[in-house]
Amino acid sequence: MRAVVYKGPFNVAVEQVENPKIQHPNDVIVHITSSAICGSDLHMYEGRTAAQPGIIFGHENMGLVEEVGPGVVSLHKGDRVVMPFNVACGFCKNCIRGYTGFCLTVNPGFAGGAYGYVAMGPYPGGQAEYLRVPFADFNALKLPPGKEHEEDFALLADIFPTGYHGTELAEVSIGESVVVFGAGPVGAMAAYSALLRGAGDVYVVDRVPERLQKAKDIGAIPIDFSKGDPVQQIRDMRHGDGVDKGVDAVGYQAVAQGKEAPSTVLDALIMIVNPTGQLGIPGLYVPSDPGGVDPHAKEGRLLIPFGKLFEKGLRLGTGQCNVKKYNAYLRDMIIAGRAKPSFIVSNEVSLDQAPMAYEKFDKRIEGYTKVILKP
Ligand SMILES: NC(=O)c1ccc[n+]([C@@H]2O[C@H](COP(=O)([O-])OP(=O)(O)OC[C@H]3O[C@@H](n4cnc5c(N)ncnc54)[C@H](O)[C@@H]3O)[C@@H](O)[C@H]2O)c1
Ligand SMILES: [Zn+2]
Ligand SMILES: [Zn+2]
Repeated sequence: MRAVVYKGPFNVAVEQVENPKIQHPNDVIVHITSSAICGSDLHMYEGRTAAQPGIIFGHENMGLVEEVGPGVVSLHKGDRVVMPFNVACGFCKNCIRGYTGFCLTVNPGFAGGAYGYVAMGPYPGGQAEYLRVPFADFNALKLPPGKEHEEDFALLADIFPTGYHGTELAEVSIGESVVVFGAGPVGAMAAYSALLRGAGDVYVVDRVPERLQKAKDIGAIPIDFSKGDPVQQIRDMRHGDGVDKGVDAVGYQAVAQGKEAPSTVLDALIMIVNPTGQLGIPGLYVPSDPGGVDPHAKEGRLLIPFGKLFEKGLRLGTGQCNVKKYNAYLRDMIIAGRAKPSFIVSNEVSLDQAPMAYEKFDKRIEGYTKVILKP
């Protein structure tokens, strides 16, 4: 089959690889119909992780069940399914408490597994024609048959639940003011989720015009950080006040004044969120970054105003999204017509066009905001 293979920094290729096989009775093989490229893939693509050449990318996977292992109970050939990017067992100490992003079974020695991702276990990604799904009864979310809502459902693998997770970590509730840093797919989904949860003013900070426009289209207030300190811009709009809640949907490759500044978003959140507020931090931070901007960043140590965080009594939550905790509910919001996350999808391209799509998405040019590959 054909698959997107990481060759080295800024280089992916579509190559012929072996088809996945059933390895365990509870596996299924899924024929991929949609697999999205994620901002998380870009950290690997840019050579900013320990990813070695040869990884098949793709953790946002959806398709039709092609082959069913003999121990699978709930799935049948032809079922339409979307998989959380997390690979999880469903029975370990963390899975049973809903922390499927921190499964203790699937990636021994580490809490958490995923498809097609460095350090996340031996699970090839789904930017390919076929994908093996382990513990399939637990990991495959069933969808209504047919072709309806394909783009919306594809986003249930990661960014819709992850954006929602950002608002859950910040416990966004009715009437609250919220700032979301990052108007990439995760930030857009966080802002959208905040609005679904009944938030009041929702500010979205970025510098990419098309992304800020999408935020505006859903009813958020765009803030262009290239035009001045975003904290000050928001305070000016609010007559000096800050906001109740904040979400970091940027992570460690954040930029300030044209340069990478890994703690700039955390710093800004601590400054703009009001005392007793809460921060949700789905944006990715790494414990080791060979490409880090200084010796501390290389060890994932960031300079943040922790004293201010204490003084304000802020609470924060972070980490991989436990997609399984939300995906069925968000699916049902899509089916009920109450959520349509696909507004963020900018491009659908064939698998063969993946190298071009990675390049444009990485440069955040030509409106490449969220790309879905169609094998
Ligand atoms: N926790 C999880 O489970 C999880 C899941 C998916 C993605 N992620 C992470 O979430 C982050 C966002 O993902 P994405 O797909 O939206 O990525 P993305 O790279 O497309 O979007 C990030 C956006 O942040 C903007 N940005 C850069 N510096 C900024 C700053 N100082 N202030 C405001 N905006 C700034 C960029 O212009 C870009 O539009 C990434 O770090 C990704 O790895 C985490
Ligand atoms: Zn993703
Ligand atoms: Zn588990």
